[in-house]
Amino acid sequence: MDKRARLSEDAVMAAFDFSGKVVLVTGASDGIGAVIARVFAEHGAAVAIVARRLEPLEAQAAAIRDATGRRCLAISGDVTDPLDWERVIAATLAEFGAIDVLVNNAGGSVRSSLRKLTPAVWQRGRALNLDAAAYGIMAVGRHFLERQAGAIVNISSVAGINGTMGEVPYSAGKAGVQMLTRVAAAEWGPHGVRVNCVAPGMTATGRMQKAVARGAYDLAEATRRFPLRRVGTCEEVAHAVLFLASDYASYITGQTLAVDGGPPIAGFTED
Ligand SMILES: NC(=O)c1ccc[n+]([C@@H]2O[C@H](COP(=O)([O-])OP(=O)(O)OC[C@H]3O[C@@H](n4cnc5c(N)ncnc54)[C@H](OP(=O)(O)O)[C@@H]3O)[C@@H](O)[C@H]2O)c1
Repeated sequence: MDKRARLSEDAVMAAFDFSGKVVLVTGASDGIGAVIARVFAEHGAAVAIVARRLEPLEAQAAAIRDATGRRCLAISGDVTDPLDWERVIAATLAEFGAIDVLVNNAGGSVRSSLRKLTPAVWQRGRALNLDAAAYGIMAVGRHFLERQAGAIVNISSVAGINGTMGEVPYSAGKAGVQMLTRVAAAEWGPHGVRVNCVAPGMTATGRMQKAVARGAYDLAEATRRFPLRRVGTCEEVAHAVLFLASDYASYITGQTLAVDGGPPIAGFTED
């Protein structure tokens, strides 16, 4: 490798070096969140991970520590509860002294057609997929505004861009997260805080792979209209999150980046 290539590789490594930084990731005992936490730790960060059930969370924290040699703190908490957020922030600050990055990842599908939708199901979908991110931003915001620094990455979904039939609470919540991102970015940009959003498409989590194995999905059919013709990996989502939290994205805020294999577009082909 010539000297210039080596220099530019060093610059890339420096921009993605999170040594000395603290990253808080919600919904990180499993799926995309667990991989986001591991990828930040691989890039040098100390990580705090949050989910409701402590046992799988502790196991995930141990796996991240073993794989990366970095510090990883497991904090059980429900992101739909503002009081839990206060506790999670306090525990992270007590352990690490600061927070540099918040990844609001916890979320999940809440299925119901409009016809069968009840206020309780609507509230559940909104609580997990919109309120939780707002509570997280409010709770970490005091710390970020005091320091005049910080990066937030919210995890939305392509369901929040295109909508998904039968998932109206989820789609509306995930669309709300994108607007939450824009307004938070506008209000806190002058205070050194960047807020961005990643909208994954179909992503191969353990949960999805089990569903495929029991025949709940036909992946070839489901991905037929995506330009890249496959589902994404958790790592591909995590790399977008890492980029948006990094110094390489220092002039990017208020944006939603779709990591979805490309937009499905109808039309004519040449062959
Ligand atoms: N997988 C996909 O194809 C896909 C596509 C688009 C968008 N997304 C989005 O990506 C994010 C991660 O999805 P995923 O599929 O990786 O999820 P997942 O595999 O179902 O994992 C969910 C994680 O969140 C935690 N969690 C759930 N409810 C919580 C709550 N109220 N408070 C705290 N933690 C909670 C779970 O642990 P506990 O149950 O112990 O709390 C678990 O650690 C979500 O926001 C999802 O909407 C996923």
